[in-house]
Amino acid sequence: MKPRGVLLAGNWKMNHGPAAARGFFEALPWSGKEGAIMRIYPSFLALPTALDAVKTGGKKIEIGAQNFHAEKSGAFTGEVSGPMLQEIGIRQVLLGHSERRQYFAETPPLILKKTVSALQQGFEVLLCIGETLDERNGGQTLSVLTHQLESTLADPTCAAAFGKTLHLAYEPVWAIGTGVTATPTQAQETHASLRGLISRTLGQDIANAVRILYGGSVTPANFAELLACPDIDGGLVGGASLKPDSFGALWSLI
Ligand code: 13P
Repeated sequence: MKPRGVLLAGNWKMNHGPAAARGFFEALPWSGKEGAIMRIYPSFLALPTALDAVKTGGKKIEIGAQNFHAEKSGAFTGEVSGPMLQEIGIRQVLLGHSERRQYFAETPPLILKKTVSALQQGFEVLLCIGETLDERNGGQTLSVLTHQLESTLADPTCAAAFGKTLHLAYEPVWAIGTGVTATPTQAQETHASLRGLISRTLGQDIANAVRILYGGSVTPANFAELLACPDIDGGLVGGASLKPDSFGALWSLI
């Protein structure tokens, strides 16, 4: 078993309404695996159905939200708050995804605000970071990731939560939805550097406890190799999480 266990998380993005979500969970082959967690982040609208489907199906699958608003209530048209999510039984949120950064102008200060608010409200946060292809080709991978993480590492609420209710997903932007996966060597190198950064900032014990998931064109054909890397603690999967067959195949590799 891997020291931090394995988290296999599916990010459905803007796919699967309630009916498709129910069909997915009914068809998904699932069996308990010691130390491993399966989690899906459906759209807001499919959250109640997903929660009900895993409960009635007896499948221990965590259901999380893809986003949330840092304020608990108020005049924020179109937004969903932490208390609303908690009311229906959601305990996990995904934050900082590159699509939120790119298409919804989420900046590091905003992502920090959401992260702190989520942690203070008792959510577990999976925080996504990643560099673009230009940044990687320009040798800036680590400086970009450090910049994306530094305010989080410096914040006392986040610092106290790292390795407990705050974990990371490294998703190189150039690998998301492109069919181009980071090689196990590239991913392991980056994950080890991130763990080193956390260790230098918050200490080795916390660094050892933080799960760092890899995301970006993960499929049943490449997941085993990635998972064999010592600093890769699971996958955050987009496309291959949409079908019960492929997501079930990923689970069977753990
Ligand atoms: P793909 O697996 O489709 O590349 O998406 C990765 C991702 O963005 C998960 O959050």
